[in-house]
Amino acid sequence: MAGLAPLLMITYQAFSDNLGADPAQAIVLATGIWSLRFLWITLAVTPLRKIKLLAWVARYRRMLGLYALFYVILHLLAFLTFILGWRMDLIWRELTARPYIVMGMLSLLLLLPLGVTSTKGWIKRLGKNWVKLHYLIYPAAILALVHFIMQIRISYAEQVLYATLLVLLLGYRVVIKLFDKKMVKTC
Ligand code: HEM
Repeated sequence: MAGLAPLLMITYQAFSDNLGADPAQAIVLATGIWSLRFLWITLAVTPLRKIKLLAWVARYRRMLGLYALFYVILHLLAFLTFILGWRMDLIWRELTARPYIVMGMLSLLLLLPLGVTSTKGWIKRLGKNWVKLHYLIYPAAILALVHFIMQIRISYAEQVLYATLLVLLLGYRVVIKLFDKKMVKTC
């Protein structure tokens, strides 16, 4: 339910005329930043569950990942509807002329199979390959960050914060993997 709070907040702001001078852009930006936040929160589950008091978060990993995808789809729909008005010529131009849109699109294309295969049936069917497939979250997160960084205008504080967090989240996994290999060798 908490995952729906950002959507409720955006909807409330829209209906109470509180989205500023450009409501269309405000909706695209808000759904974009929430996609990124949910993706980062999903990636934070692995390190957080090592902390005894926070081990329960592991139960919500799939749900958090699905929320990331949910907000990306809303983000794309808001962009296509409120900014481009579903005009095919504009959609084609945006896709080919703006590299940051291509980065966002590639990130979404990598996230889609993760969402589709998140059901119990797919987990069973794919077996070990399900885990391998879910490594796609790493390039998807990097592409999402590149998409965000390519939009830097005046301040880059937020981008630096999200980049630092991603370096920590991915760095943690690299360190654990290297450490695990060392342990196996010395055993
Ligand atoms: C489906 C393909 C995507 C398209 C077409 C797209 C398009 C856009 C557009 C047009 C903007 C607003 C630029 C502006 O007006 O300044 C934007 C911003 C943003 N998008 Fe996307 N995007 C896509 C995928 C993604 C993905 C996969 C993520 C993250 C998981 C993401 C996260 C963001 C973020 C964080 C912002 C900036 C928000 C802010 O500045 O507060 N986008 N995107």
